[in-house]
Amino acid sequence: MVIRIILIIFLASTAFAELCTTCHSEHYEKTGSCISCHRGDGRTSRKNIAHFGLITSSYADFKINAEAVEKGRKITEKASCRRCHLIGGKGNDLAPDLSASAAKNTAEKLDKSISEPTDFMPKFYFTKTSRTSIIKYLLGTSVSETSKNPYAVYFTDSSENVFDKKCGGCHRVITSGYGPSGIGDTAPNLSGLYSEFYPQRKAIGKPWDKKILKEWMKNPRSHDKNTLMAPVPLTEKESEEIIRMLEIEKTVKEHSPF
Ligand code: HEC
Ligand code: HEC
Ligand code: HEC
Ligand code: HEC
Repeated sequence: MVIRIILIIFLASTAFAELCTTCHSEHYEKTGSCISCHRGDGRTSRKNIAHFGLITSSYADFKINAEAVEKGRKITEKASCRRCHLIGGKGNDLAPDLSASAAKNTAEKLDKSISEPTDFMPKFYFTKTSRTSIIKYLLGTSVSETSKNPYAVYFTDSSENVFDKKCGGCHRVITSGYGPSGIGDTAPNLSGLYSEFYPQRKAIGKPWDKKILKEWMKNPRSHDKNTLMAPVPLTEKESEEIIRMLEIEKTVKEHSPF
């Protein structure tokens, strides 16, 4: 009886041991299993399957390198990634949830998304080292389940909205209700404008809100006498519509552990 129990325990444990070690020697075994740092599939001895989604050597220290993770967190805050993205459950829900994205993508894919962004994500000229720190931070916040409110993909029709017409030649924006608008790259991307995650303007000294935006559109110099933006002639209706377009449906402010 005792022998049978021991045998069962033995079989169970070999069945769950990671087969990574058929080809690799162990390291960091006290910190966790191979897949806790590298992902991949530990149930097979076939390399291609075992390596599927692998977190490679350059990124696998995201659980133990607190310094790189902290550096990544700081860069992420400074660059205001959260005015468009949720990270660790906090931010505006205008673009993919980056913690969910980090849970299902390889570090190399995340790196490419940051270094070669699509039209509605700004290009940040980060060094490779900075991108690597950001990714280690994101991997640390990654959750295995995808966001409960999946990022909506908008199909823009050809009809122009008022933002496209009046602001879109210079600006871009992602909105909750209309998706992406505008084609301009000469002025800031306004996504997430009325939120604590949007970078504050020094001359204003507090977060943007609807009232400030209204006055700004009428006369930007009313809030910053050095600004390069000229007043935009708008009817009352157009002004109200732009203000409404920039509303954010979902923003998560509560404290998160990240
Ligand atoms: C059949 C043998 C085999 C198995 C099983 C296997 N590997 Fe590998 N692994 C290799 C070989 C060979 C390389 C060298 C690079 C290459 O050929 O891809 C490698 C490379 C690696 C690297 C370095 C890649 C880099 O670019 O940083 C890591 C990390 C790694 N394996 C982790 C794992 C983990 C984790 C598992 C289990 C989930 C695993 N391997 C299972 C054979 C294997
Ligand atoms: C605590 C996280 C962690 C765990 C657990 C871990 N690794 Fe790694 N692994 C790393 C890091 C970090 C590197 C980069 C090189 C280094 O620091 O040794 C790495 C590098 C590797 C490499 C590339 C070759 C090398 O030594 O540079 C292979 C292969 C590898 N690990 C396989 C495994 C296997 C197999 C297991 C499970 C037995 C495992 N690792 C467990 C973090 C981990
Ligand atoms: C103005 C809004 C905006 C800001 C600010 C922004 N992004 Fe993005 N980001 C996007 C959009 C939109 C996408 C989706 C692109 C697509 O679907 O092709 C995206 C996609 C990504 C992806 C790929 C996600 C996936 O699952 O495909 C990563 C990674 C990413 N962003 C990282 C960052 C980081 C890091 C920052 C801050 C340094 C940042 N983003 C700032 C709008 C933004
Ligand atoms: C001809 C180009 C142009 C048009 C059209 C334009 N803007 Fe601007 N806007 C700019 C420039 C350039 C800046 C940056 C000025 C600066 O920082 O001093 C700017 C800045 C802003 C800012 C401040 C952003 C920040 O991060 O501080 C807001 C808000 C803004 N614009 C809203 C709008 C809205 C809303 C419209 C449409 C009604 C609009 N703009 C139309 C060129 C334009």
